[in-house]
Amino acid sequence: MADMRVTLCGVELKNPVIPASGTFGFGREYDEIYDISRLGGVATKGLTLLPRLGNPTPRIAESHGVILNAVGLQNPGVEHFIEHDLAWLKGKTRVIANVAGSTLAEYGEICARLEGLVDFIELNISCPNVKCGGMTFGVKPESIREVTAVAKKNCPRTPLIVKLSPNVESIPANARAAEEGGADCISLVNTFTGLAIDIERRRPILFNNTGGVSGAGIKPIAVRMVYEAAKAVKLPIVGMGGITSAEDAVEFLMAGATAVQVGTANFTDTRASLAIAEGLNDWCDRHLVSRVSELTGTLKLN
Ligand SMILES: Cc1cc2nc3c(=O)[nH]c(=O)nc-3n(C[C@H](O)[C@H](O)[C@H](O)COP(=O)(O)O)c2cc1C
Repeated sequence: MADMRVTLCGVELKNPVIPASGTFGFGREYDEIYDISRLGGVATKGLTLLPRLGNPTPRIAESHGVILNAVGLQNPGVEHFIEHDLAWLKGKTRVIANVAGSTLAEYGEICARLEGLVDFIELNISCPNVKCGGMTFGVKPESIREVTAVAKKNCPRTPLIVKLSPNVESIPANARAAEEGGADCISLVNTFTGLAIDIERRRPILFNNTGGVSGAGIKPIAVRMVYEAAKAVKLPIVGMGGITSAEDAVEFLMAGATAVQVGTANFTDTRASLAIAEGLNDWCDRHLVSRVSELTGTLKLN
């Protein structure tokens, strides 16, 4: 049996597979299907200081190999999470609290509230589905540096993961900006902005008009972006985007990721994250890889 443990920012995960933010709630519903303590961690739904109802429906549109979503950060607010979900989740696995804000001050406040309570804070500066906040902070290197610095100042003891948007000019420049701002780790990718049209009505399918594209179809673009980010910074990388199998996860590790997140695949197969974690172990055994961490960054270009 391969050693599946990985260390991310000094924190040990029992394996490198983490359900991605927004596709796993806070883990409770999935824990009724399988024991989520078998996962490396759980990335929570994006938390904001106050509860949010999100966007009106329709909020999800299916297409070939991908979905579009415009949920709009529906969540019960950080206080509700701390009171009702955090202790339960911490008893199971590593907790990655995904957070968002509308202003720099809000990003600072929510990080301060979670400081020392969770294993990691993942800064969502890349949500394409909210008018305030979200992607406005995550497009230009200057604002990425600034929001990262504010967040880190407010959570000096908690490892800070900055989640990058793929809807940008330069992944290397943005990864470096996060590193300069004081990030401890980088995760990518969030969703790609897309548009799905109901041709009978000649209108967008989603109420929000545009939505974020995720799922199997985005994988090659995400792998390329993870590779670029890994080359640009010294920080560890958490890779995601279209992972549906253990072999997909191996691609992200070889491209430079230390751990991976599984998003949309949890919707098509509720056991996907667990199957990928177990499949990764089998893959390592079949390929005589004694430690999964040996795979990180082993891609050799032609
Ligand atoms: C319905 C839905 C909701 C999401 N909500 C969040 C969120 O709250 N915060 C965040 O950082 N990313 C969110 N994401 C993005 C995912 O965490 C992930 O970055 C993206 O879906 C790419 O991975 P995938 O192709 O495996 O789904 C959401 C994605 C989906 C499909």
